[in-house]
Amino acid sequence: MIIGVLKEKEDKRVSLVPQDAKNLIEKGFDIWIEEDAGINAGFANHDYYSVGVQIRKRQDIIKSDIILSINRFEEIGNVKDGSYVIGLYNPFDIEFIRSLVNKSVNYIALELIPRISRAQSMDVLSSMATVAGYKAVLLAADYSVKMFPLLMTAGGTITPAKVLVIGAGVAGLQAIATAKRLGANVWGFDPRPATKEQIKSVGGNYIEFQLEEFEDKSGYAKEVDDQIIQKEREVLYPFVVESDVIITTAAVPGKKAPLLITEEMINQMKMGTVIVDLAASSGGNCQLTQKDKVIFTSNKTIIGYTNLPSLVPLDSSKLYSRNIYNLLSHISRGSNEIKPDFEDEIDRNVILIFNKQIVNNRIKEMLDRWT
Ligand code: NAI
Repeated sequence: MIIGVLKEKEDKRVSLVPQDAKNLIEKGFDIWIEEDAGINAGFANHDYYSVGVQIRKRQDIIKSDIILSINRFEEIGNVKDGSYVIGLYNPFDIEFIRSLVNKSVNYIALELIPRISRAQSMDVLSSMATVAGYKAVLLAADYSVKMFPLLMTAGGTITPAKVLVIGAGVAGLQAIATAKRLGANVWGFDPRPATKEQIKSVGGNYIEFQLEEFEDKSGYAKEVDDQIIQKEREVLYPFVVESDVIITTAAVPGKKAPLLITEEMINQMKMGTVIVDLAASSGGNCQLTQKDKVIFTSNKTIIGYTNLPSLVPLDSSKLYSRNIYNLLSHISRGSNEIKPDFEDEIDRNVILIFNKQIVNNRIKEMLDRWT
């Protein structure tokens, strides 16, 4: 099969790096890549060419058997019958899924890789969240009026910054670890009981608040009602008003992000506080967040960037690409073509559309509810 790699339009990452292209060629795949697809991530055309990749025009890539593009692409409706598209296109967007089912395109939705140990090496969301957690702290440090570490100088003592991280999943834990490495005093908050030890193990202080049965079978948090959210705000309040930096990462897949920091809370914060809201693309954990904007309000800064991995394109691309390589190795089952096995939990989840049928049960149920 021919794997075609598209150049991303507003994203510096590339979905396949030369090393993994080489590995796939050794497995028998042919690889085509759009000219300059890797340039913004630090990979020149000749880096691909030298491992056996063909540099092709975009219209050729669209005709390949497997199309790799991290983001949705406009020509998605024009790919050839029976080809596969693989990327992060938001499988919870009902209209989009409906529009694809009517075409003969097979769709592999990377957001749906199950959180099981066997699939960890393919888990693109976790890889990207790791990068985002790291970058969120660096951005916050950049905008902050304060330095992060404790410094004793002839000019006086600088106290460490206070950092609050809300949501201690993949991004949150990486944010805690990064802020700690910069010397801040860090607090972590997450009602999932398992996070208590995880927060401590990366150097954070744990804010006591646990909800049993908060986690579902797939390892993700469940949506909670308004009463619980209100309770969470009360527990968080004393930390929110004391913090120099707040990183919010609370999320339930496919649902609107819980609103944990209200405008009223923002008004009570210290001047100069910086909030980085990683949940901006699903509505935000903070009431005043604006998607892809940095806003300044009553001397506080609120950052709502939705694609932080693109700001660290080399390592994001390497991680994404290795996840794709591992996924393709799994679903090709030792051959040079995709051979789905719907007895396999990974295939059953990640392949959303196959032969005009919705395979993933969760998405199928979601669509049925909306008809
Ligand atoms: P995750 O699922 O690993 O972690 C989310 C955490 O939020 C879980 O630990 C969960 O227990 C917690 N949570 C859920 N409901 C909560 C509530 N009511 N109160 C407190 N905590 C709650 O997700 P991951 O991979 O860490 O991603 C976190 C967020 O970051 C997601 O919204 C994701 O879309 C976003 N993200 C943003 C990026 C960006 O560039 N802005 C890049 C990558 C991810």
